[in-house]
Amino acid sequence: MNLKEKIQKLKKEKNAVILCHYYQRPEIQEVADYIGDSYYLSKIGKESMENTIVFCGVKFMAESAKILSPQKSILFPNINAGCPMADMATLKQVKEFKKENPNVKIVCYVNSSSEVKALSDVCCTSSNAIKIINKLDCDRILFLPDKNLGSYIQEKVKDKEIILWKGFCVSHSRIDKKEVLKVKNSVENLITLAHPECEKEIREEADFIGSTGQMIDYISKSLNKDFLVLTEEGILHTLNKNNPDKNFYTLDSNITCSNMKKVTLNDVYESLLYGKHDVKLEEDIMNKAYKSLNNMHILSK
Ligand code: 13P
Ligand code: SF4
Repeated sequence: MNLKEKIQKLKKEKNAVILCHYYQRPEIQEVADYIGDSYYLSKIGKESMENTIVFCGVKFMAESAKILSPQKSILFPNINAGCPMADMATLKQVKEFKKENPNVKIVCYVNSSSEVKALSDVCCTSSNAIKIINKLDCDRILFLPDKNLGSYIQEKVKDKEIILWKGFCVSHSRIDKKEVLKVKNSVENLITLAHPECEKEIREEADFIGSTGQMIDYISKSLNKDFLVLTEEGILHTLNKNNPDKNFYTLDSNITCSNMKKVTLNDVYESLLYGKHDVKLEEDIMNKAYKSLNNMHILSK
């Protein structure tokens, strides 16, 4: 039996389900039961009937699944897969901000630590941030940690002041405008899509801006043939698979998230075999963070 077959066998024996983000390695996308963006995976994790979830993504995703389903066993195959952006808002900094600005609502991007979620009013992902912020009954909002998604939200939500944090995605912020223009100038009728984690000067080059899942939907419905997708390269596996008749162009430099790539097929196998690493969080943090994550699910309906 090869590794993939062993994983499928163990998955059945343990009544487990494998959730996978679009940035994961192609071979992991191939063994997954569900592939999606952050919001879709959070929804599936919450609603799935299986008692064991193997979460192939980064730490905040697995922790969020645990917070929403404390009774389930959430297995996180590689504990070293963090998100540098999530680490850019610390508990101490957010506590200080709250003390100095007691009347400002805090909206945290799901790419944040569980402790920061516990201090926030509501959580969001890039697919529902605008919808959620529009529904909040307040004029001033602190959005953290991503300054790029925050400034994109401010462009779309005119009647509220969005206070920006200084965080950013190390992978998306490396995208070079010169490389983008090189591809745009060399392909006729090219449609450019960008993730809102990109810098403003990159977003300005895009015909469509959205989460990974929204970009995939847009492309599947489009009658165009040629696309430049400005986000982590893992998405190309699903895009090529779902759209064999469409062309996907890439930049000279790869857009890669080294953390997303830390999870290997062998890690997935061992996580099922040995039940590792079973996510555990402090009860108090879980209860408080549950409120902000659950508010996201209520407000994004
Ligand atoms: P989405 O899949 O929600 O677009 O998020 C991208 C991301 O950076 C996850 O870390
Ligand atoms: Fe974090 Fe960026 Fe990697 Fe997403 S792509 S996990 S935001 S570092």
